[in-house]
Amino acid sequence: MIHPSIDTLREQFPVLHQQINGKPFVYFDNAATSQKPQRVIDALTHYYQYDNANIHRGIHTLAERATNAFEETRKAAAHFINANEPEEVIITKGTTEGINLVAQAYGRKFLKEGDEILISEMEHHSNIVPWQLLCKQTGAVLRIIPINDQGELMMDRFAEMVGEKTKIVSVVYISNSLGTINPVEEIIQKAHAHGATVVIDAAQAAPHLQLDVKRLNCDFLALSGHKMYGPTGVGILYGKRSFLEKMDPYQGGGEMIRDVTFENTTFNDIPYKFEAGTPNIADVVAFREAFRFISEIGIENIAARENELLQYGTTLLGEIKGLTIIGQAKQKASVISFIVEGVHPFDLGILLDTKGIAIRTGHHCTQPLMTRYGIEGTARASFAVYNTTEEIDRLANGLKEIVKKFTK
Ligand code: ALA
Repeated sequence: MIHPSIDTLREQFPVLHQQINGKPFVYFDNAATSQKPQRVIDALTHYYQYDNANIHRGIHTLAERATNAFEETRKAAAHFINANEPEEVIITKGTTEGINLVAQAYGRKFLKEGDEILISEMEHHSNIVPWQLLCKQTGAVLRIIPINDQGELMMDRFAEMVGEKTKIVSVVYISNSLGTINPVEEIIQKAHAHGATVVIDAAQAAPHLQLDVKRLNCDFLALSGHKMYGPTGVGILYGKRSFLEKMDPYQGGGEMIRDVTFENTTFNDIPYKFEAGTPNIADVVAFREAFRFISEIGIENIAARENELLQYGTTLLGEIKGLTIIGQAKQKASVISFIVEGVHPFDLGILLDTKGIAIRTGHHCTQPLMTRYGIEGTARASFAVYNTTEEIDRLANGLKEIVKKFTK
């Protein structure tokens, strides 16, 4: 039994309490971005109303308040992922920037022609394209770990592929398109056994399961605030101190320097070395409330509730004629991607929207994965802690009506 009750929990999300197209709103696009509790929204306005100042620069009261609030988020993030120290947490724009940072500041410095980077067939574009760019810059080679029809990584193939040439393994913890929870611990162990560096894309994992970088022993981990009840445009990149210290800066500018002359620049300590320019201070400050929100409910309670929704939705949607669920891994988070025979995913999305139900349709920024399944895209319902089985009933009934209309 989740605490607080579902009604109390839903009350904290103002956006849920409205009519869309004349119907009570149902939000099932949580894998794209989650909704925000009032406390996150309040923290954002409070910051601009009372505390706005630039950070790490001023000596006046507001500058100190803003700096402290910003650094409190770094501490909360370090605690959330169980990092050794806040200095191992770089504040970013989100997962995409985190992965690009690793590719450029680490990969570009340490990889050379013929080195191999392993990613999987289910990666989001943000865990494909940065590595492709790096391969073009260095002559490294990108290799793809295949998946089976259920949407699980083929671990036997991974074991064959990883070797002395492997310098980086970068995999998604939970697939945004399939919901698959990957065995990242095993991947990290095997990659490390060959001396490879491991990057974990935890964008989808952060709101659904306990992240523990010490237990995982990953070298880098990236996540986004907006998928975990926090603001858009902020995220973190975790990196082990030993890695961050030997990396080049990512971008040049203010804050990341120690001393600048026209001849030479020396750089700041980690993590500031990677934080050039004035960041998105307000959203970073508000992000702290998202960590608090999750911690107060308990990530294990969130996971248990979402798992109930996943089981309920899988059974109900599985009964709909012509509907096929794409991604049926044994270990799965609360994402149901599906196609319906004879109905284009966009039509499903548009018609459900007329019923007040928001889902996502398309390739979900995983085009190679769609190619693997021989489809253009899917319709995707993804659940968060505030969703209910009654809402899933509405989705299933809505889909049945659409299917009936299209098969007349
Ligand atoms: N990566 C986000 C999604 O899965 C945008 O929808």
